[in-house]
Amino acid sequence: MAAQISPSILSSDFAVLAQECARIPSADWLHVDVMDNHFVPNLTLGLPVVESLLRHVDTPVDCHLMIDDPDRWAPAYAEAGAGSVTFHAEAAHAPIRLAREIRAQNARAGLAFKPATPVEPYADLLSEVDMLLVMTVEPGFGGQKFLDVVVPKIRRARDLIRASDAQVWLQVDGGVDADTIGVCAEAGADVFVAGSAVFSAADPDHMINELRQLAELAGAR
Ligand code: DX5
Ligand code: ZN
Repeated sequence: MAAQISPSILSSDFAVLAQECARIPSADWLHVDVMDNHFVPNLTLGLPVVESLLRHVDTPVDCHLMIDDPDRWAPAYAEAGAGSVTFHAEAAHAPIRLAREIRAQNARAGLAFKPATPVEPYADLLSEVDMLLVMTVEPGFGGQKFLDVVVPKIRRARDLIRASDAQVWLQVDGGVDADTIGVCAEAGADVFVAGSAVFSAADPDHMINELRQLAELAGAR
């Protein structure tokens, strides 16, 4: 299994964002957490910052929108050039229409789930999306502890993907580090967001490669 690592820039120094991204050339994606202080109790950055960042990086950008009314705001991130745009199942009014709008802008469409939201009701939508994001913490902040209780849902999401004909990636986000990435990979995740684990490491780029190796080892089991 090829594992992809998407470091969350939420744990980087926003004042020197482009330099922080330049420190992690091994990243498969740059995970950008957009928070609106409504869907989650935190405020981060929005479209203008993403547009600026896109002018300074070559690594594809993976936008995770933790916002209300993604139907209104998400397509602009795809239009700006994000490679992947993920919105929350709990927030979208018309997820099929929204995923189609994102894909129409040549971006991958992702559908995210908070820890207590079941994935099963969305089984019929798998052909409409490119990725499921199973949150392994309550969204809103970096540096939280991994919620083991979500692992069975990762497994069920992988089973649903397997049962469908769709080529859908399965991303996990929250508390993913060298200790927890294995259990996620073993449960079927193949794209791993890691914020504090990467940016608090002495050598962030080395940590990315270490995490990828651990995931591939566990995923192969
Ligand atoms: C949390 C964000 C995550 C966060 C992950 O709401 O969606 O992407 O930055 O940070 P860590 O890896 O530190 O849990
Ligand atoms: Zn995120």
